Amino acid sequence: MMYSSFRCWPLALLLTIVACVSAQNIDYRLPTALEPTHYELYLHPDLATGNFTGQERITINVKQATSQIILHSHKLTLTSVYVLSREVENFRLDTERELLIIDMKQPLAADGTITLGIIFEGQMLNKLVGLYTSNYKTATGQQRTIVNSQFEPTYARQAFPCFDEPALKATFNITVVHPTAGSYDAISNMNKIESQNLGENTMATFAISVPMSTYLACIIVADFDHQKSTVKANGIGADFEMRAFATPHQLSKVTFALEFGVAVTEYYIKYFKVEYPLPKLDMAAIPDFSSNAMEHWGLVTYRETALLYDENYSSTLNKQATAAVLAHEITHQWFGNLVTMKWWNDLWLNEGFARFMQYKGVDDVHPDWGMLEQFIIMALHPVMDFDAKLSSHPIVQKVESPDEIAAIFDTISYEKAGSILRMLENLVGSTKFEQAVTSYLTKYKYQNTVTDDFLSEVAALVTDFDLKLLMRTWTEQMGYPVLKVERSSNEAFTFTQQRFLSNKASYEETVEPTEFGYKWTVPITYYLDSSKADEISSIIFSYDSDSVSVRVAENVKWIKLNVHQMGFYRVNYEASIWEQITKQLIADHKRFDIADRAQLLNDAFALADASQISYNVSLEMTAYLSSEEDFVPWYVAASKLVALKKTLMYSESYASYLTYARSLLTNVYKNVGWTVDANNHLKNRLRVSVLNAACSLGVGDCLKEAAERFNKWIANPSAATRPAPDLREIVYHYGMQQANTEASWEKLLAIYQEETDPSEKVKIMFGLTGVSDGQLLYRLLELANDESIVRSQDYHTCVQYIAANPVGESIVWDYYRENWVQLAERFGLNDRYFGRLIASITSGFASEVKLEEVQEFYKKQPESGAGAGSRHQAIETIKYNMNWLQENSADISSWLKGTKSALTV
Ligand code: BES
Ligand code: ZN
Repeated sequence: MMYSSFRCWPLALLLTIVACVSAQNIDYRLPTALEPTHYELYLHPDLATGNFTGQERITINVKQATSQIILHSHKLTLTSVYVLSREVENFRLDTERELLIIDMKQPLAADGTITLGIIFEGQMLNKLVGLYTSNYKTATGQQRTIVNSQFEPTYARQAFPCFDEPALKATFNITVVHPTAGSYDAISNMNKIESQNLGENTMATFAISVPMSTYLACIIVADFDHQKSTVKANGIGADFEMRAFATPHQLSKVTFALEFGVAVTEYYIKYFKVEYPLPKLDMAAIPDFSSNAMEHWGLVTYRETALLYDENYSSTLNKQATAAVLAHEITHQWFGNLVTMKWWNDLWLNEGFARFMQYKGVDDVHPDWGMLEQFIIMALHPVMDFDAKLSSHPIVQKVESPDEIAAIFDTISYEKAGSILRMLENLVGSTKFEQAVTSYLTKYKYQNTVTDDFLSEVAALVTDFDLKLLMRTWTEQMGYPVLKVERSSNEAFTFTQQRFLSNKASYEETVEPTEFGYKWTVPITYYLDSSKADEISSIIFSYDSDSVSVRVAENVKWIKLNVHQMGFYRVNYEASIWEQITKQLIADHKRFDIADRAQLLNDAFALADASQISYNVSLEMTAYLSSEEDFVPWYVAASKLVALKKTLMYSESYASYLTYARSLLTNVYKNVGWTVDANNHLKNRLRVSVLNAACSLGVGDCLKEAAERFNKWIANPSAATRPAPDLREIVYHYGMQQANTEASWEKLLAIYQEETDPSEKVKIMFGLTGVSDGQLLYRLLELANDESIVRSQDYHTCVQYIAANPVGESIVWDYYRENWVQLAERFGLNDRYFGRLIASITSGFASEVKLEEVQEFYKKQPESGAGAGSRHQAIETIKYNMNWLQENSADISSWLKGTKSALTV
């Protein structure tokens, strides 16, 4: 068995085993005796056979005397290994550690330089990492093969033997051989300096790179076309060219990305005040791509849906996502590429920063998109759910094996880290924050850093409190606090803190102790009903204090903490304050701004879900929604209303819940309507959120509209009958659900197969999963195994869509278990998307029987690879769901009974 050396302890310990023994005992790290400084790399991918050959010479500094050269190599066949002017005794591959170990005849003396030469071969088929082939059909229906690379985090070693750790930066001189015919060309990080026609093949040589980590190297061989434009550096370095590449028939779809890309790059140069050091920045849309995008220095690669924009196909959300992904990857050109984390433990320095900065970048170019407030719903709220579980982990997390490294690219490294940076910026002020960023990037350029290096730059600008200590309480321990607010006297409010856990029962479990005892130093901000507009007070609640109090006038009615939800904590008020806040929302909700309203809703529901307040509090609050018109708070409310539908589906209050939820949507549903405004971004976002919720909750008119549009289109598919891009997912999905016939499903499937626009294809796929005929859902699941129908890159999305359909859930669960071995074989246990499937498939499970099934499955398949954490998360979610029903159904049911009568009055 492929993964046999990665064996976990047996079962009894199911819940406590996280770590597999081997992961702890094996030393995955390279020895420190050698440091590469330069790679001469020659690669020749053969598009016809799917194999490649390569040669390299690596210049290496010998730091300490050693008789071994140890570097990474994985899934490569080595035909020759030599060291210039030295003798190699022998070499071998350690497949578990993915290493090439070379024994030298004579030891290498310290302080010298050697040149290691290797000739190697590998294969590029059926994979999305290392060097791999991708296929697409041209406008005339011809099949085309191209070659792409994806090296982050540990796959450069599958393309060439190398010192594949982020701190081992070196310069690269890359040469690529590509077919001369068929419009093929090669692209890489650097500009091409020479193209030598060898007849059938052409050899392209690129300029020497700046020092960079191996995971950032990139080569593409493709017949792409491009558009180009110029980035103005405004005196911070030289102007340079930006090009956007795509398959020739889609070239017109890069216009938006190129225009946005130039604008956001100019913004980052201005913000960072550090020059972009390469002569060009390319972007390319790749038909087969595992993640959404990858920030290779000088050549950012994207999934097609992430880069291409076509107003005839792309929704408002697609447009925003394209901008966001570009902004994110372009931030990495500084955060990650110029300054890189020393080791994956500090991945947040790359990904958390890029996540945080992407919102600033998009906001600068499109100030009317409300990105800074969207941060709250897209990043902060989701990760607060994740981080309220025992299966979470700290931002700075020790990782060693490739599976652990793959798994650390998760919502903690991205969204929690991004949220902590947002809190930090709010605490020290945007000017100091920006200054610290500039000095950090300047000081560490071409080098590697740890968390403390960044914090030192910020701390240097702050004198009135211990900033590093404050930040360590957030980066070194998982979770976050809920602050309890009490009116301790007529003249004071008192705050205390406790770790927030979503499942009440989790408080009973023993947790690994931390230095700060799961207390945090919390930068608190607040205002009172008596405060003037924009008057904000602040106070720091140190982790080692039991409580803090603030004095207020006797006539103060309420206090609102965590202004604009800049802090990573929840706030629970004593009942009378909740009541006052709710009254205020109902009387004049604009007393709280958009972010504060979103936060109040989100906190109230999260606290109710966790049994820390009565569910009545959150339900009472929803009454104000009849006058809410903004997207961000509605997004919170609509998501919660839809989620509650799922959890209450098998409870006695289901019907009365639906009635209530629909009544809340009445006004806003009328207000958004079914006509898309060309230029109102946030209204468009609101519309989709509301229509989705309305269809999901069974608002009759919404389902009728969706069905009518669907039937009209499916009867006669054409540009004229096709709904507006924003409405397509809703119309396809709920239209299919309402039609629910095999004939229309078949027709939709045929349209799906013929469709060539990548984002339209995903929308139709979502449509196909709307049907409630289990037989058809099962067929789709089977069809999804065929690469020519569902690309490997989209397989997990397809499975998740099916599992999210109540009829599909058990079909997917059975299928997943029955075919797990083949699936693991196809995707590999190191695939983090495959690893995460378990958590999403089982996310709605809420019974003892299901819990046992999941545990049984783990017993049977103990090797989880990059999915280890997700397995724990899945178990914890099921237990939470079970507990939730016990704790809350009765409350909700009796509240609804009361309201129902009130509503009918
Ligand atoms: N560096 C990542 C790509 C990546 C992710 C490589 C995981 C290896 C493992 C890239 O910067 C990234 O974060 N991509 C995101 C998109 C972005 C908008 C968050 C992705 O692919 O989802
Ligand atoms: Zn990233």
